[in-house]
Amino acid sequence: MTRTVYVNGEYLPETEAKVSIFDRGFLMGDAVYEVTSVLDGKLIDFEGHAVRLERSLNELDMQPACSKEELLAIHRKLVELNDINEGLVYLQVSRGSNGDRDFVFPDPETTKPTIVLFTQNKPNLADSPAARKGAKIISIDDIRWGRRDIKTVQLLYPSMGKMMAKAAGADDAWLIEDGHVTEGTSNNAYFVTNGKIVTRPLSTDILHGITRAAVMRLAEEAQMEVEERLFTIDEAKEADEAFTTSASAFVMPVIEIDGVQLGDGTPGPIAKRLREIYLDEARKKAI
Ligand code: PDD
Repeated sequence: MTRTVYVNGEYLPETEAKVSIFDRGFLMGDAVYEVTSVLDGKLIDFEGHAVRLERSLNELDMQPACSKEELLAIHRKLVELNDINEGLVYLQVSRGSNGDRDFVFPDPETTKPTIVLFTQNKPNLADSPAARKGAKIISIDDIRWGRRDIKTVQLLYPSMGKMMAKAAGADDAWLIEDGHVTEGTSNNAYFVTNGKIVTRPLSTDILHGITRAAVMRLAEEAQMEVEERLFTIDEAKEADEAFTTSASAFVMPVIEIDGVQLGDGTPGPIAKRLREIYLDEARKKAI
């Protein structure tokens, strides 16, 4: 099926959508993005993603491409036009194109941002075979830039990390900086020991996950103990269980780290419970 996508105010078949070769997203990685999941044809955590988008744009002195209300309307229209029951909406805003290549930012008065949205149909997003099995993780150095709190499209190293994981027979990678785990290539990282959930505190070192915020609130509401602190990969390897969170995989149990099996090698009870609670609440609050 040819998708209908959104580019700068127009809904078009994906085959007809065009962006300039001089677009700074393309030439410089000068763009930010958001991924919002869809369950039962409705948007999950839209408000959180919209607020983070605004923050990313602000941090980079980029113009808002449109209002939050317009953004919601575009998301909803694409979900409807593409008949998405379960899946994702990808949104990207770049600093646009002034018709040439230059390191200097173009004048925002004359160069408008480029905004692109498209949907991805994922019928098994909630009832995911990968989540039933759990993920195998390897650890690799974190050599990304220093502003990981800004959700930029500079995803080459995370892509390489996923390829390194694949080559090692694993599913994903966790990133290590100064001896501590920062986060996963495209998710936030947690381990659980004696019922206590441990994850790295928010800073410019990691993306402030929208799913992280929801899952930590739900964990506390369910009387689970949550501790935000730096942790090493060895602590995670010795843990009872581990998991990651993201908009595209919700709560994903981790069953192996660097070849070391966690627990009995199946998804742990806390990760499974948090996935259930999160999905339940996400469906109730979806818009
Ligand atoms: N990735 N950390 C990184 C580096 C990420 O890329 C992501 C999301 C997260 C989790 O954030 P959230 O819960 O808001 O999705 C953490 C998205 C899903 C992606 O790149 O596809």
